[in-house]
Amino acid sequence: MALLDKAIARALPAVPRPVVRRISARYIAGPALDDALRTVRALNAAAKLATVDVLGEEITRGREALAICREYHDVLARIDEGRLDSNISVKLTALGLELDPSLCYENLESLVRDARERGNFVRIDMEDSSTTDETLRLYRKLRGEGYDNVGIVLQAYLRRTIEDILGLHNVRLCKGIYNEPAEVAYQEYDTVRANFVRCLERLFDEGAYVAVATHDEELIGSALRMIRERNLGRDEYELQMLLGVREDRADQLVREGHRVRIYVPYGIHWYEYSLRRLQENPKIAGYIAADTVGRMLPRRLLRTGV
Ligand code: FDA
Repeated sequence: MALLDKAIARALPAVPRPVVRRISARYIAGPALDDALRTVRALNAAAKLATVDVLGEEITRGREALAICREYHDVLARIDEGRLDSNISVKLTALGLELDPSLCYENLESLVRDARERGNFVRIDMEDSSTTDETLRLYRKLRGEGYDNVGIVLQAYLRRTIEDILGLHNVRLCKGIYNEPAEVAYQEYDTVRANFVRCLERLFDEGAYVAVATHDEELIGSALRMIRERNLGRDEYELQMLLGVREDRADQLVREGHRVRIYVPYGIHWYEYSLRRLQENPKIAGYIAADTVGRMLPRRLLRTGV
């Protein structure tokens, strides 16, 4: 299966644009902010929270970072106007991290300040391991300056993560999506899972607010067990999933009384984003291929198992 997944991922750029669009439609709200807001409204109506991600491509100029930053200010304003229950998720490279860390900090701080004035919150996504130190540094700087409406993401596949936990207040824990070398990241599926559990335990022990971001049933089970054992209240943690993935499970978790937040990406760069995500994680290409094949097969064949 792994080989097939990789072959599918490599072949993706050859897949016609409309097909990629159709395949990724359920994972992306659409090209415009209005699409994202419509999706958030629907999620809120189903008692789910959201976090909005503006899809950006690699930037090479300060003004591109500024444009993304402005777009996020619009997102915050529209969330506020629409009284929607959603925060934002930002990538520091899109705000200029690799061009100039001080420009990135200015952009980030302006968003966190705007969010604070509106009673909202900013989550800093974690990107590849070349950005981990700087991302943690800018998060700590903001916290040090008194902003408590900002959180970070840690990746369970990184060997360093267990040591990074100390002193963090608000953490989304995920497995990690980038291709990383063995020196920095665990490579085995079960080792990453085991480290996820270890990191989650430490985060709860440290008293951090944790957003448990996974669709992995075993890890959801471990998280729910820890939450029960620690008698955590509904407002002391949240569960997070990506738009379009395991929606039934998310609904079930809501019915069981948990707060569930859905990651809602939107933007004109949906095509580049889709290709990159699919190639970065060949396994996802595999799910998508299976899904597409499933949709292409006549229902009659699926039902009879032919
Ligand atoms: P795993 O990949 O093992 O999936 C478990 C099961 O879920 C699969 O068997 C499949 O059934 C289903 N599934 C998972 N993904 C699917 C998909 N796309 N389509 C269909 N089914 C799917 N990463 C990162 O490096 N930095 C970040 O900031 C974030 N942020 C983030 C936010 C949120 C809310 C989530 C849920 C995830 C992230 N991630 C991330 C991505 C994360 O690191 C990871 O790559 C994915 O969540 C997949 O890992 P799972 O834990 O879901 O397990």
